Parts: sequence; C-alpha cells; structure tokens
Amino acid sequence: MLLGVNIDHIAVLREARKINDPDPLQAIYIAQLAGADQITVHLREDRRHIHDDDVRRIIENSPLPVNLECSVDPDIVEIVADLRPHRATFVPEKREEVTTEGGLNMDEPNFSNLDKALHYLKAREIEISLFIDPTKEAVRAAKTLGAEWVELHTGHYANLYAMRYGNLSKTHHSIPELEIERSKLTKMLEKALADLEEATEYADEFGLNVAAGHGLNYQNVQSIRKIEGIQELNIGQSIVARSVFTGLERAIREMKALIA
Ligand code: PXP
Repeated sequence: MLLGVNIDHIAVLREARKINDPDPLQAIYIAQLAGADQITVHLREDRRHIHDDDVRRIIENSPLPVNLECSVDPDIVEIVADLRPHRATFVPEKREEVTTEGGLNMDEPNFSNLDKALHYLKAREIEISLFIDPTKEAVRAAKTLGAEWVELHTGHYANLYAMRYGNLSKTHHSIPELEIERSKLTKMLEKALADLEEATEYADEFGLNVAAGHGLNYQNVQSIRKIEGIQELNIGQSIVARSVFTGLERAIREMKALIA
C-alpha cells in the first residue's frame, strides 16, 4: 500500500509557540528518504496549523506528489487552483472541531458547491479525491460527481479500536458514547471493518481509486492493510507522535514497513 504522510502536526507544534520552528518543509525530504509515497497537508480555513506559505513552499519543493486537503470555500479553492497540487482532497470543515470528524455530506442538496469546486480544479488537471464515510451511497455520489479517488474515513473504526484495545477509556479523552461492554465494542469494530471493506469493493467496481485515513496508528492499521482494494493510506498524527521519540525518518519507515 502507498503511504501518504500527513505533516500538519509538525505545523501544530510550531503554532504552539507561534514561531518558525519546526518547519514542515523539512519533513518532505525526510519523508522521501524514508520511503513515503506522498505528502499530505490540509490548508484549513482557520489556518490553525498549515499556512498558505507552507503549502506554496511544499508544492514548489516536494520531491513527492502533494495531496492538498481543502474545503469547498471559494477562497480556498482559488488558492488550490493557483498552486496546482497533484491531488486535491475535499474534506468537510467545522471551525469548532478538533479534527475532521466525519466524511463529506454527500446528500444531493449539498452537491452544488462541491460539484462546482470539483470541476473547477479538475479543469486545471488536479486529481480529485473526496473524503467520505464508508457507505455505498457516498461512494455512488462520489462517482456521480466525477471524482477520481475516494478517501474512506477510518475515524469511527479508530475510535472503536482505541476504546476496545487501547487505554483511551481510562483517560479524560474517553469517548462517552463508546463507554460500553467490550463484547459490544468488538461487534461494532467488526461492523466498522466490514463497512470499510464493502465501500472499497463498491468503489472498485465503479473504477474509483481508494485511499483511507484518519486516526490510523501502528496497531489499528494492521486490519486496514489487509483490505484488498485500498491503494493508499494517509497517516499523520501517529507518525508525528512517534517521531518525537524515534525521529521522523524511522517513524515513517516503520509505518511503511507495516503497510507494505
Ligand atoms: N486523511 C484526511 C482526509 C484527513 O483529514 C486527515 C487528518 O487531517 C488524515 C487523513 C490523517 O489523519 P491522522 O492525522 O489522524 O492520521
């Protein structure tokens, strides 16, 4: 499987001090050395981590293809059109969220903005991916809209895994609605995996390329890597977290070896 390394969290660390260190640009060269296949960044409307200048420098210098996550906000879309990354992944954005909590709303009435933005960027030869929940309806809608890729949101699976097998439930970040019996969590986890498998199969039948990501780490990625048809994983937080202790090159190499 291909590995896209999401380097937003390097900018998160920089923004914690509002200075110019660490510089996410440095990560692109280390990622290439470590065997990554793609650099992923998210230019959020609130610029809470990655800034316009980061994206410009990363796209101008990256030895690897760049996948730029963005919302359908017209100002953001204009920046993406101007910078022309290899791929644009449309994601939903809410100001108050800690991270991207779910896939795009793919119901018909929400189509018009997405449709317009998608075709605007496609006309500039930017490959288009849509970050969606793993449902047949969302996959079908992505195909109808003309996307080339879907990225399946693995956040629900990751939350279930962390509550079932990790120690999240023992911490103040426990997810209250998932504080339930382990047997129930196990069943829900199986269902979440089955949904990802089914959505992958469905996307494959439609001729869509399939990526997946969000909340994946060195433990929970083991089942995801077995899903036939997923071509690429975009992983950020767990790699950057491990890099604090091991260095970025080793953290990327270890993830790449796990999913290869
Ligand atoms: N893919 C998409 C579309 C995302 O929005 C994110 C989070 O920015 C990721 C992958 C990476 O998620 P994580 O940092 O949890 O690995």
